[in-house]
Amino acid sequence: MSVGRAGVAADWPRLGFGVGLRAEHYEDVLAGAKGADWFEVITENYIGTRGRPLAVLECVRRDHPVALHGVSLSIGSADPLDRRYLKALKDLVDRIEPALISDHLCWSGVDGRALFDLLPLPLTEECLNHVAERVRRVQDYLGRRILLENPSSYLGWRASTIPEAEFLSELAERADCGLLLDVNNVYVSAVNLDFDARAYLDAIPAHRVGQMHLAGFSDMGTHLFDTHSRAVSDEVWELYRHALERIGPAASMVEWDDEIPPWSRLIEELDRARQIRDQVLFADEIGRAAVAG
Ligand SMILES: [Fe+2]
Repeated sequence: MSVGRAGVAADWPRLGFGVGLRAEHYEDVLAGAKGADWFEVITENYIGTRGRPLAVLECVRRDHPVALHGVSLSIGSADPLDRRYLKALKDLVDRIEPALISDHLCWSGVDGRALFDLLPLPLTEECLNHVAERVRRVQDYLGRRILLENPSSYLGWRASTIPEAEFLSELAERADCGLLLDVNNVYVSAVNLDFDARAYLDAIPAHRVGQMHLAGFSDMGTHLFDTHSRAVSDEVWELYRHALERIGPAASMVEWDDEIPPWSRLIEELDRARQIRDQVLFADEIGRAAVAG
């Protein structure tokens, strides 16, 4: 994918349906388990290592597209960009040649200290300028676009003046970057912060969405928690249907990081996503085939 002119999104790769590659499934995948068109990996698990995970990733990469999904870019932090991290990321990019590279709209450290969490940003004009400038610098360094993911939110800042979908939309234009739309995060945040999830999706520029995430949340009674520990909920499947109607067939994948199920159960989730894709995007053809048949 090339870095295009500002405001003109490149064609994102149509990868189909993938899963997050987790150590629990290494043996299945190496044995040729079917069902996933591509794999997303957590970048930090594969940088600064020459151990088995990297060997497995290189093996997987021989037969499948791979997306790198980071948690340490800390794009919104007031700290300088971490040059050592960026160098390690670039080395991995050169080695793996990923189809997509992503991280989160968040900050995760200050004064050189990592806080090991994806923390929310005040959605203000000042923050927008700050993040857009940093995204441009990261993309210039890597020589390609990155995607930023919408966070799952539990609290908002009183200082925020820009709705999140509008913030992401404007960020993508100013920085000429892509968006990773996590449909589960939209739903979790919408319930926790009491906004309209469908209106949020409607405000996201379709041509900027390079990838979508699906995952399961836990209902804590007082709020929804983005645990990635269970199946995708019916509400999120419905929202995914709406996202496909608006955005089209962006590369989609299921994140399942806790209480990880057997490979076959994970693939059932992908098959449900494929079914919805077929209903939304190929409904006319299916209807014509039924009439012709
Ligand atoms: Fe996600």
